[in-house]
Amino acid sequence: MSKLNSNTLAIQIFALTKRFDSLIAVNGIDLGIGKGELFSLLGPNGAGKTTTINMLCCLLKPTSGTVSIMGYDIMKEPFRVKELIGVAPQETTISEHLNSWENLSLIGRVHRIGSKELKQRSEELLETVGLLERAKDRVGKFSGGMKRRLNLIMALVPDPEILFLDEPTLGLDPQSRRAIWDYIAELKGKKTILLTTHYLEEADVLSDRVGIIDEGKIVALGTTDELKKSISETNTMIISAENLSAEAIDGLRTSDRYAEIDNVSGKLKVSGKDLNFREVIDYLYSQDVTIYSAALEQPTLEDVFLKITGKELRE
Ligand SMILES: Nc1ncnc2c1ncn2[C@@H]1O[C@H](COP(=O)(O)OP(=O)(O)OP(=O)(O)O)[C@@H](O)[C@H]1O
Ligand SMILES: [Mg+2]
Repeated sequence: MSKLNSNTLAIQIFALTKRFDSLIAVNGIDLGIGKGELFSLLGPNGAGKTTTINMLCCLLKPTSGTVSIMGYDIMKEPFRVKELIGVAPQETTISEHLNSWENLSLIGRVHRIGSKELKQRSEELLETVGLLERAKDRVGKFSGGMKRRLNLIMALVPDPEILFLDEPTLGLDPQSRRAIWDYIAELKGKKTILLTTHYLEEADVLSDRVGIIDEGKIVALGTTDELKKSISETNTMIISAENLSAEAIDGLRTSDRYAEIDNVSGKLKVSGKDLNFREVIDYLYSQDVTIYSAALEQPTLEDVFLKITGKELRE
């Protein structure tokens, strides 16, 4: 996704800013999101994620800056933009006195979807998120997780090209969270998706690229691998082995490539800037060491987040 140009971009953001009186919630964001890309916006509470999404969805007027969605300017052609997007907001907008069918039909009618098509699509979506059996219950009686699942599929009723998912799995139990993430994974590549989440492991697995936002600014941008490499100058290998002689370890120590070598209860840890996985393994074999497992230890997205923002990401 490094060679993004205007033909391959679904969303183009220039110098986007939002002020609430003296507070600058979004502070000059520039960002391009490719067609079919799954982009995760991560940031601590109050970083400006929801404010950004609300502006992109034409729900909130920017103070300055421009955004185009599939080439349409959000300020000049909001009606065009609204036809292309689906939004699952952080604060769910479902009507509690209606049931799921009725909530979905409200959206269907706004988008002028024919009744036959609407029924079929609603049924598929309800089935996918496990709500079909409860579809005639008043939504006010739903649990928080069920409401969030309905909130998600409401964004999908118009079968939009672009999806904005603001904390789609907030407050869900691990199993429901998994079901939603599996569903998002199915949509990956078929739609352009911009999501925010506090679950970094899932963002790590699913996202094509990640942007970290803090105090209204994008402070890091790239694939998760790029971001992990950017915070860690050294690579570390963990080797589980038998017959690790002191001579074998000393042999590694003679190489100036390896800055740090620890041997704790049969687990050898080797770190260095130019660590060569193959070279270490070949060397240990040549020393008659029996290797059970060997793995490169990478920083997690959580480590990246902490290093870049100085804050931990909590729900
Ligand atoms: N309508 C508003 N009026 C005044 N300030 C607002 C308004 N909406 C948001 N803010 C402020 O803008 C900042 C960014 O809020 P925003 O909701 O975009 O954060 P967020 O990154 O989505 O956080 P969270 O992870 O908690 O959802 C916060 O300081 C918030 O208090
Ligand atoms: Mg938010």
